[in-house]
Amino acid sequence: MLTIGSLQLANRIISAPMAGVTDRAFRDLAREFGCGLTFSEMISDMGLCYTQQRTLRLADVSEEDGPVAVQIFGSDPETMGRGAAILVGLGAAIIDINMGCPTPKIVKNREGAALLTDLHLARSIIREVKAAVSLPVTVKMRKGWHDDEHTYIELGGIAEEEGAAAVTLHPRSRSQFFSGQAEWSAIKILKQQLAIPVIGNGDIMSASDACRMLEETNCDAIMIGRGAMGNPFLFREAVALVEEGTIIEPATIEERIGIAIRHLDLACRYKGEMVGVREMRKHFSWYTRGMRGAARIRGDINRADSRDELVAAIMQLLGREGN
Ligand SMILES: Cc1cc2nc3c(=O)[nH]c(=O)nc-3n(C[C@H](O)[C@H](O)[C@H](O)COP(=O)(O)O)c2cc1C
Repeated sequence: MLTIGSLQLANRIISAPMAGVTDRAFRDLAREFGCGLTFSEMISDMGLCYTQQRTLRLADVSEEDGPVAVQIFGSDPETMGRGAAILVGLGAAIIDINMGCPTPKIVKNREGAALLTDLHLARSIIREVKAAVSLPVTVKMRKGWHDDEHTYIELGGIAEEEGAAAVTLHPRSRSQFFSGQAEWSAIKILKQQLAIPVIGNGDIMSASDACRMLEETNCDAIMIGRGAMGNPFLFREAVALVEEGTIIEPATIEERIGIAIRHLDLACRYKGEMVGVREMRKHFSWYTRGMRGAARIRGDINRADSRDELVAAIMQLLGREGN
């Protein structure tokens, strides 16, 4: 059993934070498929401190029935601390600090992966957030800014010294964005160096990848991002293989379509039909990836304006010969 600070997790499979993807509907499904911990999308410290309604809605996990690590991003230690305190009231189980986002509009504000280039500031942020909340505080980081940098070693040490309860490493540099391969050997090095739990992340696309990362790096838990987009079944498969050594049959076309519709209904319930449908179009493209006939219904998915139109689009794939 994995413990992060005072929080005991049911297993070692964690759903990654993904802006625009891991909203409440996604997290509900991730939990349904056995995930031990889910992450929110990244939340702006300024949005919290200036009580922007959209930010507060994004950050509110108080009604969810499993632990959610809520991720905050920013560059000012003081507002990061204040923002973190607000997240406690919104139901967070863990406060995670973003030190990995590579997007230009984030790093130009010295946020996200930019903190890899200013470890003094990174330390102050962890210290302020830690002082502001009594929940476990964690840090999610990349390997370094440039390809040949190994900043994670020093930053991991800083996080531990400042009382972080765990760190997650996505071992790509900021310059790489998502190109190349995640360098899992860096996760192994970090694990050897730290006493706090290390969560390994990057390029887990199957349950066997999850097992392989645990074996190769000795990390304490694994975090899955892109592999679960349109495929929450990966959580179920990874939990079964990692925790029980059991291989689960891949989801059938019927099940994939059924869960896509359930996901849509959850999104409509939480965000209203208009926003729910608009945001679910991309998820439907992911759910149908690789299905026979998927390319032909892509246009219907993108034109769908209502829940029923989106359902009708995907139902065209049911019962196709060879599915
Ligand atoms: C669409 C998208 C949005 C993301 N948003 C965030 C985010 O808000 N915070 C964060 O720390 N990482 C974010 N990430 C990075 C993932 O959490 C993860 O570290 C990365 O995708 C590598 O894991 P994977 O190979 O399993 O996808 C995002 C990734 C994607 C693809």
